[in-house]
Amino acid sequence: MSVNIKKVGVLTSGGDSPGMNAAIRAVVRTCAFHNIECAGIYRGYQGMIEGDFKEMNARSVNNIINKGGTILKSARSKEFMTAEGRKKAHQNLVDNNIDALVVIGGNGSFTGALIFNSEYNFPVIGIPGTIDNDIYGTSFTLGYDTALNTVVEVIDKIRDTASSHNRLFFVEVMGRDAGHIALNAGIGAGAEEILIPEEDMGLDRLLESLRKSKASGKSSSIVVIAEGDKIGKNAFELKDYVEENMPEYDVRVSILGHMQRGGTPSCFDRVLASRLGVKAVETLLDGKSNYMVGLIKDEVVLTPLENAVKGKSYIDKELIRVSDIVSI
Ligand code: F6P
Repeated sequence: MSVNIKKVGVLTSGGDSPGMNAAIRAVVRTCAFHNIECAGIYRGYQGMIEGDFKEMNARSVNNIINKGGTILKSARSKEFMTAEGRKKAHQNLVDNNIDALVVIGGNGSFTGALIFNSEYNFPVIGIPGTIDNDIYGTSFTLGYDTALNTVVEVIDKIRDTASSHNRLFFVEVMGRDAGHIALNAGIGAGAEEILIPEEDMGLDRLLESLRKSKASGKSSSIVVIAEGDKIGKNAFELKDYVEENMPEYDVRVSILGHMQRGGTPSCFDRVLASRLGVKAVETLLDGKSNYMVGLIKDEVVLTPLENAVKGKSYIDKELIRVSDIVSI
């Protein structure tokens, strides 16, 4: 282990996700285990600019493994996008003797980390945290599994009303640029159709599919839509379109929104966070920097941060075929 790193700073940035607290806990305790100091940086990069730091030890992270959100709070800092902001942030790190960073967040957070590293050669490791699961270099991001379970639980409830009233529901889930949540939760909740940003299903196919469902004897239907779906119509516009073309359907819309980002992390997310947190600190202690820790084929692996930022996390197209088959 390298002797250079004596104090690690940890922050959460961008959208919060369940499992971030478990990752903070793992980072803080791995530091304590290896007898190095750890500072929590509040409100992401904005807190770094404002010097909002707090020393943390193993006891500072008691009873947080089961909590959603992030005890360190999160923010999207505009000031960190400026050279002046990053200069202030660097000075604060130096003043507080912090010599390496663990950044828990998504693509935007990693981009900020890379710029900061290129300007100040400051050691940094990323832990992928976003419910969208849209980061290259890991099969799972923190919070994704929990969000899937939340969405499935809610759609199960919506299905009760859909079937009792013979209704069609459009359920909008998160995923501005990625259909992972829509596709997997859609299959898990037995949706008739799933609309995602990666594939343009087309309005004609949607109508045809709904007609087939009706003809096959289904009296209710659930269509899951990712918020960034490629058809380009939001859930309310789709409702209007279907009602115009298929007046026999009684259509309702449910936008699940931020409930998907909150709540108690699943066991999977807690274990993932613990594994990635340990690896993040130990990678820094090994003298490495500019990597993201991730999980591929149940192995914790390192991906250069630049590749994680530039690479694309593709959806599994086989899942579309599976959905088409199991929803007939
Ligand atoms: O965390 C990612 C995400 O959930 C996206 O799917 C969504 O579009 C976005 O966050 C909304 O975030 P906010 O409300 O914080 O801008």
